[in-house]
Amino acid sequence: MTVREEIEQLKQEKNAVILAHYYVRPEVQEIADYIGDSFYLSKIAAGLKEQTIVFCGVSFMGESAKVLSPGKTVLMPDASADCAMAHMADAETIRRMREKYDDLAVVCYINSTAELKRHSDVCVTSANAVKIVKALPNRNIFFIPDRNLAHFVSQMVPEKNFVYNEGYCPVHEKMSREEILRAKEAHPDAEVLTHPECPEAVCEISDYIGSTSGIIHYAEESSAGEFIVCTESGVRHELEKRCPDKKFYFTETEPLCMDMKTITPEKILHVLKTGDNEVCLDEVLREQSKKPLEKMLELAE
Ligand code: 13P
Ligand code: SF4
Repeated sequence: MTVREEIEQLKQEKNAVILAHYYVRPEVQEIADYIGDSFYLSKIAAGLKEQTIVFCGVSFMGESAKVLSPGKTVLMPDASADCAMAHMADAETIRRMREKYDDLAVVCYINSTAELKRHSDVCVTSANAVKIVKALPNRNIFFIPDRNLAHFVSQMVPEKNFVYNEGYCPVHEKMSREEILRAKEAHPDAEVLTHPECPEAVCEISDYIGSTSGIIHYAEESSAGEFIVCTESGVRHELEKRCPDKKFYFTETEPLCMDMKTITPEKILHVLKTGDNEVCLDEVLREQSKKPLEKMLELAE
């Protein structure tokens, strides 16, 4: 039997389902039952009928799935796959901001630990952050951990006062305006599609800014035939699948999230066989971090 056939068989036996983010390897995306961006995957994780969820993504994704579906077994193919940005804020700073600003909402990008979520008022993803921040009654917004996404949202919601936190995604942060300009010179008809985790200087010269799903939908709908894509290069797989006649260019230093890339079909098979790398959360932490996640799902409706 091939690895894929073994995975299929174990999935039936163990009543399991496989979720994957667009940044994982193509061979993992091909095995997944559901593939999407962080928002789609969190919505899906909250309403699955299967008993076991194998989450092909980084740890905050598995944690969120467990928080939203406490009765399920959530398995991570690689327990070391983590998101550096998820740790780039702290409870003490949140406490100080709450003291300093009245009418403050602490808005937490889903790319954060459950520990950070528990101190926040609402979670957002790159797909729904603008809508949710607009819907909040508060005038002051402390946006954690990502300063680049915070800046993008602040431009879309100018009526609110943003307090920034110095977190960033190391993969998107590396993209520079100069290399995008060089790519534009090489492909003058291409539209620039950018994830809001990119620096402001890159967003400024983009035709579209949105989540990974947003980028894929935009490319499908656009009349353009070529695109310069400013996000992790795992999305190439879905872009080429959905738009076989269009061309996609990535930056010279093709952006790779090595944590996402640690996940392989063999590791999926291993956790299905053994039950290793189960996500376990303290019950108080789970209850507290559930509130901002549920508020996100409610406000994003
Ligand atoms: P989205 O899935 O919201 O596009 O975010 C990208 C990302 O960095 C996930 O870790
Ligand atoms: Fe985190 Fe960046 Fe990797 Fe996304 S791409 S998981 S934000 S390190």
